[in-house]
Amino acid sequence: MKTEIINAKQTKLKVKDVKAIAEIECHEKVREWLIIRVETNVEREYLAYRRFFRNLPKNRKAEILVAKNGDRVAGFLGLWRYGTYMEHVAAIGISVHPDFWGKGIATRLMKSALKLAKKSGIIRLEIETRADNYAMRHVAEKAGFKLEKIRRKRIRKNGTFYDEASYYMILDNPVSTKQMRTKKIYEFSTS
Ligand SMILES: CC(C)(COP(=O)(O)OP(=O)(O)OC[C@H]1O[C@@H](n2cnc3c(N)ncnc32)[C@H](O)[C@@H]1OP(=O)(O)O)[C@@H](O)C(=O)NCCC(=O)NCCS
Repeated sequence: MKTEIINAKQTKLKVKDVKAIAEIECHEKVREWLIIRVETNVEREYLAYRRFFRNLPKNRKAEILVAKNGDRVAGFLGLWRYGTYMEHVAAIGISVHPDFWGKGIATRLMKSALKLAKKSGIIRLEIETRADNYAMRHVAEKAGFKLEKIRRKRIRKNGTFYDEASYYMILDNPVSTKQMRTKKIYEFSTS
């Protein structure tokens, strides 16, 4: 079935899509790898995402790309721009439903995110993941990210300390931060 990538700022997600996103994020096989704390209750996670997506069009710091396989959400990617003095830097996080692992969904999302980041004037992209997350590391390296450092025991998860792998990518031909301010295109481009 065909997979398409949707920019959630341009295309309003259906309720069932937002629910699917909450379900992916709460899925135990996904949660296991996320370094942020994730809600375990799907309904609460859905309500939080519903608020988030409602406000997304006004959110200058976030962009969400959603991979849809037919009518089903297979995964999504968040591009999170940092704050003051670091608007040129954004972090990437990806979650794919385990039913779709190994089918190139994260790779497709990543390709679209790189295009969007370039258009939006991002100069530096970052990915932080557990050092033993070889699938994510492979996706990052395949897309051209470079390993910057391994931070020992930086992630604490369920009482265990994990090493963290930090990746970066410098985008060529960026719109400079100064231009971004004067042209007021520091928001993520929606076209
Ligand atoms: C990491 C994740 C996003 C990858 O998504 P995906 O759609 O399965 O990724 P893709 O299919 O595009 O690519 C996965 C690649 O990693 C490879 N891979 C998978 N498991 C691997 C492993 N244990 N070791 C090495 N490579 C591995 C696959 O063979 C594939 O490589 P290929 O394209 O050269 O064949 C997905 O597994 C996921 O959602 N994990 C849980 C959440 C998570 O870890 N998010 C990242 C936090 S920053």
